[in-house]
Amino acid sequence: MKYPATLLFMFCAASLSAETLHVATPASSLVLDATPGQKLSLVHYGTPVSDADIAGLGSGLDTYPAYGINPEREAALSITHADGSMSTDLVVKSTAKSTDADGAEILTVTLADTFYPVEVDVNYRTYPGENIIETWSEIRNNEKGAITLSRFMSASLPVRMGDVWLSSLYGSWANEAKVEERPLTHGVTMIKNKDGVRNSHTAHAEVMLSLDGKPRENTGRVIGAALEYPGNYKIMIDTDDSDYHRLFAGINEENSAYTLKKGESFATPPLALTYSNEGLSGASRNFHRWGRKHRLHAGDTPRKILLNSWEGVYFDIDEPTMDGMMADIAYMGGELFVMDDGWFGVKYPRATDNAALGDWTVDTRKLPNGINSLLDAAERHGVKFGIWIEPEMTNTVSELYDKHPEYVIKAPNRKPTTGRGGTQLVLDMANPKVQDLVFEVVDTLMRKYPRIDYIKWDANAPIMDHGSQYLTADRQSHLYIDFHRGLIKTLERIREAHPDVTIQACASGGGRANWGILPWFDEFWTSDNNDALQRIYMQWGTSYFFPAIAMASHISAAPNHQTFRSIPVKFRADVAMSGRLGLELQPKNMTEEERDICRRAIADYKNVRHIVQFGDIYRLLSPYDGKGAASLMYITPEKDDAVFFWWKTETFMNQQLPRIPMAGLDPDATYIVTELNRIDNEPLPFEGKAFSGRFLMDRGLDMPLTHKVDYHKNTDYSSRVLRLTRQ
Ligand code: DGJ
Repeated sequence: MKYPATLLFMFCAASLSAETLHVATPASSLVLDATPGQKLSLVHYGTPVSDADIAGLGSGLDTYPAYGINPEREAALSITHADGSMSTDLVVKSTAKSTDADGAEILTVTLADTFYPVEVDVNYRTYPGENIIETWSEIRNNEKGAITLSRFMSASLPVRMGDVWLSSLYGSWANEAKVEERPLTHGVTMIKNKDGVRNSHTAHAEVMLSLDGKPRENTGRVIGAALEYPGNYKIMIDTDDSDYHRLFAGINEENSAYTLKKGESFATPPLALTYSNEGLSGASRNFHRWGRKHRLHAGDTPRKILLNSWEGVYFDIDEPTMDGMMADIAYMGGELFVMDDGWFGVKYPRATDNAALGDWTVDTRKLPNGINSLLDAAERHGVKFGIWIEPEMTNTVSELYDKHPEYVIKAPNRKPTTGRGGTQLVLDMANPKVQDLVFEVVDTLMRKYPRIDYIKWDANAPIMDHGSQYLTADRQSHLYIDFHRGLIKTLERIREAHPDVTIQACASGGGRANWGILPWFDEFWTSDNNDALQRIYMQWGTSYFFPAIAMASHISAAPNHQTFRSIPVKFRADVAMSGRLGLELQPKNMTEEERDICRRAIADYKNVRHIVQFGDIYRLLSPYDGKGAASLMYITPEKDDAVFFWWKTETFMNQQLPRIPMAGLDPDATYIVTELNRIDNEPLPFEGKAFSGRFLMDRGLDMPLTHKVDYHKNTDYSSRVLRLTRQ
């Protein structure tokens, strides 16, 4: 996935005033007025502009407003100075340019208070060839005493009013990433999270703004914004009686006032901005390409097809069962087996969810020959082996808690509030000893069992009490932020020591789908709800910001364990194949025919994995539009190979479903159509036929309402996966 290494970031040329800064990507421009002694103002963000265009633009709006002067306006930053003053007045001091290790260009505009020795760097980072501009701030305290930050947004972005619509993702356990769309009206629209740990439950830290009315997938101007932070966040859009909506995004400051001693600084997490005039899908493609290349851990490495044991056996782990599951996934063509929860705990065995987190020693009652014997079995079966841990957590029933009750998050003078199983507690990642402990959990596992190929890193509790036993009394409000700083420090150490192990971020299902955590993780668990029909909706929303390579998507049992819906395995496979394909069931309980369908789906997925995992997404028909079907496709950047997915989302007699024009193909190329995962007794009329890209995009192909199968095999489900290969 290589892009031309042109650096489009630039300081503006001679025709423009020295104070005008132009941050450019191949398909967007951000223009700033950084006149020394004046406010830093944003003159333009959106379509690419020329020097001549810039020369004709008017003045902009303060883009990093601080609290204190005109305090009726929302601010990005609020400081209580060492002398108690709450007034901050920032003006441009200087501008600098640098390049980072990733080849990215950083423009830094340093703002200084007109009286107090406080400085704020406002940064803009661009990557060669990518349509993303990251922006964040860094606040430095050079005052004689400590200052307190009570708001510290990463950025604020003025967006011209018009018919602007907001799309965001909402939903908690088993209902993650539901798309919500609404026009922006007067007042404040707030999207936030205060869970402390699982920040993509209940809302997501990413939004899309469609500038031309109701959001459309492949047309219209869109600004996308994704906050790269795994903790509590706030995205706020303030619409007053001016011409602009003002978007603010950053760490949620509630109960998190942060004190900076003299000489200390505070860096906010980056906000990744993208602009596209190709609708929501265009903005998604920008996030995906940049994310795979610059954020996602090992974003250029194909992901393996796996079987996870959770919904197959839950806590009922034993050696023969694990061996059988490994044999089964190997038989079906899979490449990896993951033993989920239930394998550990010596003094307190992990028989259910109420014990042993923190005691990461194998339970030899269940696995008498230990992990090595499982690793040997995996080798024999020709698959890799993965394991589940939840290292940031413990239970009151655990050897870890017996030894180190001071490691957990709890309020002074109170018993800790417990979560899952009535006993779960969160470890205090702000504490360096806990950071060491969490590092050692992974390090010991990997050193003892270097053949472990994959770790599922779970996190199943929010921060349930405000209280750090490590932080001093005057630093208690640092808890949420220092928890995540500690976590990231630990993840950095883990990745330095173990760069090759694949790690999945799971948090009660899809609680950790965010760009703040993915630099250390290879993928995230999308949801504990594997129901294929609901997954179409969840994966649709997830794909707004995250690429398929990171979106774990499993074929699970029927009836489904969450919705109790019974969906034929063909449909389940067709949905799972649009993400990182896996299985999560007990293969022993499948019929021979179901196993065969999975075996063929895995074989087909291997042939198109590079398209799904590294291709460009074009979402075509949204399930949210209620048209009875949903459809999307992936295509290679060279436009020579594509996979088209079509799923019927409801069934009525004499249904008239729309024909779906495709997108993203080369209009002048010819593509041969091949159906994957075919179950029909006879091929589709267009099987093996050649069509021009233009025809496929202007007209599309008709999907039959049902499958042509033996009468007793008919169901109310229907789906198609087509491969389109350039002739
Ligand atoms: C919650 C996760 O979301 C599940 O997938 C599973 O790993 C369980 N935890 C195990 O306890």
